[in-house]
Amino acid sequence: MQLNSIGLDVTKSKSLSKDLNQLLANFQRYYQSLRGIHWNIKGKRFFDLHLKFEELYTDANLKVDEIAERILTLGGVPLHTFEDYIENSKVPVGKNITKDEDAIRLIVESLSELLVIERAILDASDEASDEGTNSMMSEFITQQEKTVWMMKAWLAEEI
Ligand SMILES: [Fe+2]
Repeated sequence: MQLNSIGLDVTKSKSLSKDLNQLLANFQRYYQSLRGIHWNIKGKRFFDLHLKFEELYTDANLKVDEIAERILTLGGVPLHTFEDYIENSKVPVGKNITKDEDAIRLIVESLSELLVIERAILDASDEASDEGTNSMMSEFITQQEKTVWMMKAWLAEEI
């Protein structure tokens, strides 16, 4: 087994950075959806939702950077073109969404998809003894689960 400078298996690190690139692509699409609903939301709840969506895209933006820098730390190259993001992501695309309920549902659906990817990375990083990626995924998962609960509460639906 060949180790890299941070003491992790080289092959496993490459594989993890590939998985993280998939997460990065999906996060970028989610980020762009959040910008869209921040801009296009209409109705009586405009002021609070406009701000809430800004809070969420600011957070997503920070996470995008964390993911990209983790990929570099593991010896990979973060995807950085729109073409690569489109090709490597599957979270729903929100386009021309103006209704509050549609916007909140888009967030829930996107986060549900991101959680599946993050749990798969968590299993792989655990297996590779990669605590850095592991703790990052744990933090993301905990925060996003809470956001899903809040969005479901807003929708007055069971989680
Ligand atoms: Fe704005």
